Amino acid sequence: MMDAGRHPRIELMTLSEVEEVNGYIGNFKVKVRKKARYVDEKECTACGDCADVCPVTYPDEYQVGLGTRKAVYIPFAQAVPSSYVINPENCLGSNPIACGKCAERCEKKCIDFDIQDEIVELEVGAIIVATGMDTYDPTEMDEYGYTRFQNVVTSLEFERLICAGGPTEGHFVRPGDMNRPKRIGFVQCVGSRMENRGNPYCSNICCMNTIKDSLLLKEHYPDTEIFVFYIDLRAFGKGFEDLLKRSREAGVNYIRGLPGSVMEDPETENLIVDVENTTAGRLEQYNLDMLVLSVGLEPRGDGDPLRQALNLSKTSDGFLLEAHPKLRPVDASTPGVFLAGCVESPKDVKDSVTQASAAVARASHILTSDKLTVEAITATIDKEKCTACGACAKVCPYGAIRWEKKTPAEVIEAMCAGCGTCAAECKFDAINIKHFSDEALMAQTESAVAENASERIVAFACNWCSYAGGDGAGTSRLQYPPNARIIRTMCSGRVDERFVLRAFELGAPIVLVSGCHFADCHYIDANRATQRRVDKLWDKLEKLGIRPERLQLEWISAAEGQKFATVMREIEKMRQRVTAEEIEHTIKVLKEDRGKQESKRKAKAKV
Ligand code: FES
Repeated sequence: MMDAGRHPRIELMTLSEVEEVNGYIGNFKVKVRKKARYVDEKECTACGDCADVCPVTYPDEYQVGLGTRKAVYIPFAQAVPSSYVINPENCLGSNPIACGKCAERCEKKCIDFDIQDEIVELEVGAIIVATGMDTYDPTEMDEYGYTRFQNVVTSLEFERLICAGGPTEGHFVRPGDMNRPKRIGFVQCVGSRMENRGNPYCSNICCMNTIKDSLLLKEHYPDTEIFVFYIDLRAFGKGFEDLLKRSREAGVNYIRGLPGSVMEDPETENLIVDVENTTAGRLEQYNLDMLVLSVGLEPRGDGDPLRQALNLSKTSDGFLLEAHPKLRPVDASTPGVFLAGCVESPKDVKDSVTQASAAVARASHILTSDKLTVEAITATIDKEKCTACGACAKVCPYGAIRWEKKTPAEVIEAMCAGCGTCAAECKFDAINIKHFSDEALMAQTESAVAENASERIVAFACNWCSYAGGDGAGTSRLQYPPNARIIRTMCSGRVDERFVLRAFELGAPIVLVSGCHFADCHYIDANRATQRRVDKLWDKLEKLGIRPERLQLEWISAAEGQKFATVMREIEKMRQRVTAEEIEHTIKVLKEDRGKQESKRKAKAKV
């Protein structure tokens, strides 16, 4: 941090928030709100006189509430810049000045209550998002007594208690009576790998953090008895298994089983912990001085405004989605934006540094290039056909379509990711997608039902999830009906209702539209447009006397090969129930409907 602060080509903007991001790869315009510090950071010598006279005290966020700070404070000892800041919400008299003791005391006259927030506009070529994560709040897990017993702490609070820069200056004591704990328990997976509470994923770092803490305690206080309660230990990194071995050899007790209840002995403030030891197959009770809850990691609770400003997608667990998990793991879905650290998924320092280095390398490639190669699959607009209705601009998840009333729409190619939602939305055939043109997809639809149409299942599958799910089913040798004809689109949002209706008109008994689960779509939320379009199609089919069930919509992820095969088998059963009369009726009504639509269009064109 110090190095970054001193680097001549790095401008650190602390106490600042990104408010707006416009533009595209190589050409971003970013509005940043630089919040008022009320202290001149260049003049402040961090002498601390102001904090000495400040009359108010608040819990110190850096010490996770285990220490206190004043309204004028330095967030932590190594903070850059090394200057005091006033929190206006805590200050008694910043506006209007009712207290002003700090300003009176400051000899260098660094404190100025009239400093205002400043909006800074930046032009940048690439953006790296490294906004970190939150830790899980274990309040809801009442059985561990976190809110009831002082000597139950989280792993973050424990870190502060053993840190030389912590509230106890490294003297390890328990909060209840400030005595050194001699019997300590660690509970693993608090808020991780849970279905009903907390989060379903593994937080990656907790096992190794506990092993590290146990070794630290054993080194400093060899007489400490340590018990680690776990479901299973995940020590998969380089040298990690060795660390676990050392911890066991140092006498740390590992007990397979999580506590069912924690009670406190009111006299001693000791904790009575009941655990089912699943290795020994018996219930055990432990009398401990302190219990540390190894809390998991979560996406930042305040991360959504930035995500929306950057047009980024998130996964179902709330972390930001990478462009491709294997091939572009540090690229975000918006070109020119990269991810580093826990904003993408829970990870340790080493992995964060690796990812940050990769993100910097990817970003510097943009900054050092005169020309950029963009996606080959992008939208193009036929200006002759465009009626300037603006429907495409409304559905584009990337804001890549520039549109003004009465002016044909225009695609900003560098921003277009090629999902094709705009083309499916355009009623006037004015948009085409390179490599996934209307003609190509229509031809694939027609050829899917060119022979034995009544025996076919026409399935539109998005490239990233459902198609990959189908692939997964194939490579896992899972059987699914061979009469399915799968048509790949980049996103389910590309599936135009005309493709579906054409398949039915040519005698398809069943059509499936399939894409990524909500929040998993690789084009932000383009699959919401799919849902809306299919809803409309179901209504239309019903009005025309066609059973809507014949159009199926399924969300299948790349990892769900099994689900893909099951869905296909179910759909095959449905197909067998579609009668020849139904198909005949469908062909007839859809032909008539298409005739009517065409005459309407011609009439409009004449007007
Ligand atoms: Fe799969 Fe959008 S990429 S539905």
